[in-house]
Amino acid sequence: MAKSFLKDVYDVGKIDSRELYASWAATYDKEVKENGYVTPKRIADALKDIVSDQSELILDYGCGTGLSGSALWSVGFKNIDGLDVSEEMVRLAKKKSIYRNLRVFEPSTKIPVQAEQYKIITAVGVIGAGAAPLQVFSDLLSLLPSNGLLAFSFNDHTLKDPSYEKEVDACLKVGKALMVHKSYGKHLPKANLNSNIYILKKL
Ligand SMILES: C[S@@+](CC[C@H](N)C(=O)[O-])C[C@H]1O[C@@H](n2cnc3c(N)ncnc32)[C@H](O)[C@@H]1O
Repeated sequence: MAKSFLKDVYDVGKIDSRELYASWAATYDKEVKENGYVTPKRIADALKDIVSDQSELILDYGCGTGLSGSALWSVGFKNIDGLDVSEEMVRLAKKKSIYRNLRVFEPSTKIPVQAEQYKIITAVGVIGAGAAPLQVFSDLLSLLPSNGLLAFSFNDHTLKDPSYEKEVDACLKVGKALMVHKSYGKHLPKANLNSNIYILKKL
């Protein structure tokens, strides 16, 4: 039987996220699908309701093996670039043939995206416990033009740490962004995990 990585991934502080995703890549899709992974579809559906031009280019930040891009593709977004820190995950994303461009970068370096290059950025299952640090939230928001959209999720493990939502609230409070969608729902239902999904419009 394949090793379950879902048991390890949220063990904050004990894991090296890149090593974990390198080992998990081959069985990631199977394991998260078996656990009913639905946050990508929830974000894709919510974005579809908000975005009028579906030909708009999207950056799927932390694209992994491409499950988030596939969900966007299924609701009609066909112009998607992917960026991630794991070669192994991105190698599998490439096989899905849905991304226009795919790129891997070193997480200790600046995100290799020009300011205002994308009007829509998604980070599905990326920020928080088991993956990217909170700083990524502000970094991604700063890359958007005004009126650009940032769609992202925090799972239950991440929500347990109040600093994540505090950072989002602070940016709303100072008028950096407006919340255009927020809902709590299923994330990995077979693993009893939910998530908040958010779409912010940069002001
Ligand atoms: C749970 S997976 C989600 C992948 C994909 N978005 C999905 O919905 O299936 C988390 C992804 O975040 C990536 N990741 C971890 N730290 C990151 C960082 N600092 N910047 C970008 N991606 C990161 C991992 O390599 C992994 O592919």
